[in-house]
Amino acid sequence: MERELALEIVRVTEAAALASAPWMGRGDKNGADGAATAAMRAMFDTVSIRGTVVIGEGEMDEAPMLYIGEEVGSLNGPEVDVAVDPLEGTEIVAKGLNNAMSVIAIANKGNLLHAPDMYMEKLAVGPELVGKLSLLDPIETTLEKAAEALNKKMSELTVMILDRPRHESLVKALRKAGLRIKFLSDGDVAGAMAPAFPEAGIDLYVGSGGAPEGVLAAAALKCLGGELQGRLMPAGAQEYERCIRMGISNPYQILTMEDMVGNDDVIFAATGVTPGEFLGGVRYISGERAETFSIVMRAKTRTIRFIRSLHYLPNKPFLTALPEA
Ligand code: FBP
Repeated sequence: MERELALEIVRVTEAAALASAPWMGRGDKNGADGAATAAMRAMFDTVSIRGTVVIGEGEMDEAPMLYIGEEVGSLNGPEVDVAVDPLEGTEIVAKGLNNAMSVIAIANKGNLLHAPDMYMEKLAVGPELVGKLSLLDPIETTLEKAAEALNKKMSELTVMILDRPRHESLVKALRKAGLRIKFLSDGDVAGAMAPAFPEAGIDLYVGSGGAPEGVLAAAALKCLGGELQGRLMPAGAQEYERCIRMGISNPYQILTMEDMVGNDDVIFAATGVTPGEFLGGVRYISGERAETFSIVMRAKTRTIRFIRSLHYLPNKPFLTALPEA
């Protein structure tokens, strides 16, 4: 993949973020998601790729746009797999909370795990802890190993986790260990990426969230030099069989970075919709402008670009249409 593609891709996440931002706090997560998806889909037509959506808005019969198997791009460029989440954190935008982003990963064909839509147990770390922890260990052992490797007291460790009733016993164990916990309301792509940003102050990300989001985060961590280990959590026979149909012969195996993102021909881009640990949200400023904050990275070079853009809104009416009151 050509390096110019990275900048083309970030225009797509910017468009989706700008389109969903007017929906902040309106209590309408489907409206916010629909606006992001339509803008992302439209903008993809300008990108020089022959892309196939492998992680998207759902199966063809349940999603009108960006469904799994849909072809995207101008169809005259490299053949790539595309993983998208036009609005990662639909509920976040509906409630006006933190950490919503628009996200894309593109990779050479066959390079991304086609993750089924189910939960995945996750353990994500930044560069300092790569190769030092295992999802197979009990959480207490993981915490001890992390504290030792980071040369921190347990009380200085900060762990991020989605605030969910299903995490009750895990949270109990974290509290017993005596560390600090930062809860996320939603948005665990940003959560799993956070340990790779020293300024976020997060040492590790644990707990379960969406499997497609796990692969998106793994693509980001590949570029950031971090690591995500995952394990699918098929709930019942149907989900188990879906894994088998999707080519995952042992659904309970630990998924390594290599299982989720085969090689380093990967580009990842995200634009903040609401403020987060490492990206600002969309801000409306004077002069009919809106400001966006994005990150775009290539695993091959490990270059990380933060892009602040000032958009002139009268030129982008289709991105700023407000929902009906
Ligand atoms: P959506 O953007 O699809 O609403 O997903 C938000 C999210 O928080 C993901 O980041 C996370 O992986 C998943 O939902 C967790 O699922 P649940 O809300 O069922 O715990």
